[in-house]
Amino acid sequence: MRTHYCGNITEKLLNQVISLCGWVHRQRNHGGIIFIDLRDYTGLVQIVCDPNYIKISKISKIIRSEFCLQIIGKVRKRPNKTNNTNLISGNIEILCRKLKILNSSVTLPFQIDEENILEVTNLKYRVLYLRYKHMQKNLRLRHKVTMEIRKFLDSKKFIEIETPILGKSTPEGARDYLVPSRINPGKFFALPQSPQLFKQLLMIANFDRYYQITKCFRDEDLRSDRQPEFTQIDCEVSFMNEEEIRSLFENMIRVIFDKTLNIKLPNPFPIIEWSTAIKLYGSDKPDTRIKLIFTNLTNIMKNVNFKLFSKIANMKNGKIIGLKIPGGLDISRNEIDSYTQFVKTHGAKGLVYIKIHKISKGLDGLKSPIIKYFNNLTLEKIIYKTKAQNGDIIFLGADEKNIVNNFMSALRIKIGCSDFGKKNNIFDNNWRPLWVINFPMFKYDETNNNWIARHHPFTAPKDGYEDFILTNPEKIFSKAYDLIINGREIGGGSIRIHNAKIQKNIFKVLNINDEIVKTQFEFLLNSLKYGAPPHGGIAFGLDRLITIMTGSKSIRDVIAFPKTQNAQCLLTNTPSIVDKKQLNELNILYKNTKINKNLY
Ligand code: AMO
Repeated sequence: MRTHYCGNITEKLLNQVISLCGWVHRQRNHGGIIFIDLRDYTGLVQIVCDPNYIKISKISKIIRSEFCLQIIGKVRKRPNKTNNTNLISGNIEILCRKLKILNSSVTLPFQIDEENILEVTNLKYRVLYLRYKHMQKNLRLRHKVTMEIRKFLDSKKFIEIETPILGKSTPEGARDYLVPSRINPGKFFALPQSPQLFKQLLMIANFDRYYQITKCFRDEDLRSDRQPEFTQIDCEVSFMNEEEIRSLFENMIRVIFDKTLNIKLPNPFPIIEWSTAIKLYGSDKPDTRIKLIFTNLTNIMKNVNFKLFSKIANMKNGKIIGLKIPGGLDISRNEIDSYTQFVKTHGAKGLVYIKIHKISKGLDGLKSPIIKYFNNLTLEKIIYKTKAQNGDIIFLGADEKNIVNNFMSALRIKIGCSDFGKKNNIFDNNWRPLWVINFPMFKYDETNNNWIARHHPFTAPKDGYEDFILTNPEKIFSKAYDLIINGREIGGGSIRIHNAKIQKNIFKVLNINDEIVKTQFEFLLNSLKYGAPPHGGIAFGLDRLITIMTGSKSIRDVIAFPKTQNAQCLLTNTPSIVDKKQLNELNILYKNTKINKNLY
């Protein structure tokens, strides 16, 4: 049917008769001559329907946007001054000799490539939205990336092995999606939050190097970079230590960026300890394109007259952070007010600032609503610690350490990525990958009075810490690592526990009782006893990786059929109610009795 693609037709094909298939992007009638922009995934080409060809002219008049056509015609030069430099085919056009409507289209809810359509609309009319240029580009890049990943991993002797989708719950910190078993009444499968335990079993089973590009399912609160079903590039290796694993996989990321986007990432990737990341950026996924860092001013504020600060500075977990913005005197009063409102949406009670006009004038050279509470010495210390200079502004945030880290970290990003940040060289528009290492093993969950695993419960503690797991969980660091690129968590992994006794101790710290250990993890503990090799791995979030590689605003723009923030598919209207008969077969009784009695 087709001899060429629309986007590839150039002057090289002049005078040749070719056959094209595609969709009508636009149609224009110029005094009886009909121009059609025909589109396929490679691009557009202009078709001319001459009124002298009566049959063609007649058909061309009834076609509308998104009609699907076959066109046979001759490639000819465009008349002088009608060239379109934005198109590869911009110097030529096709004089139509035969026009066949392969299918018509009803009126469109929006024009293809029309900007700013509502997301609910693009999710509902997904087939049309997928015809957009950027969606075609994103999904094709996604394909190229997975091809390069497969090539890379194959060259390193990894093999792809599928693990079950109908499985047992693997704790990754989210709720499970459950699937009832019809032939085992009252029993459920859990869709995998990750293939974590199966990939460990594959190491024990001597597959040595495993990978899988696979769907994972997590029933959690959704954000712009989260989906309830998403794809992991899941990997595991035996007999490699942390450094070797990081080096292997950062090489994979470098190769992918190079081969698909011709972008050279740094070699090696920088590494930062978790505690340093929190100290400097208040976040374990810092965006290091932004050159702003925190200064801890807690000690300096312990004796100041400003009660709000001195009280927090003397609290057990209180923290006061200074964020110096070079050249920040240019930030207007209105902008400062909007930053104050912004941090409030991130849990702050307020935001204080000090403007540095002239340091040599002492207190008189500074401007701040709270300056009256500080003496010269305090101000000198603040300026010394923050290394502030004339023309800067220092924002001060105070609260419980997690709260203040959170809102000051959000402020750092907000200012860094603002027009001001870009103009003042605070934002460096480059690729900034970063390994975060040396995470604490556990985090205390105050609400449930429980230790929880920072990564997952199968992560190994650092060497030498094994004996303190039960007595001092707060002091244990793990062999976990996260890969951050431009402030987004792209991957995470660890060396695993390959010793059943240590694994049991971790379950104890996490307050997972023997009964649950037996029902949930007996297969793992038993398998570890058969000479389990030292092993470790990592999983990358493919959707997040493609989101940053394509510069997309939303993860939904790199997934063909994504879900909304409410975990719904607007195209297929799922999740949906099911027939009562189906629920009966599954032995499921629905709690809500108000619902139609035939449909649940
Ligand atoms: P983790 O939970 O860190 O690790 O997940 C690995 C990576 O998967 C991506 N990711 C997501 N992407 C989109 N939507 C989500 N809801 C979502 N959740 C996670 C992130 C993340 O870095 N089993 C371990 C890996 C290992 O230890 O090998 C795991 O799943 O990019």
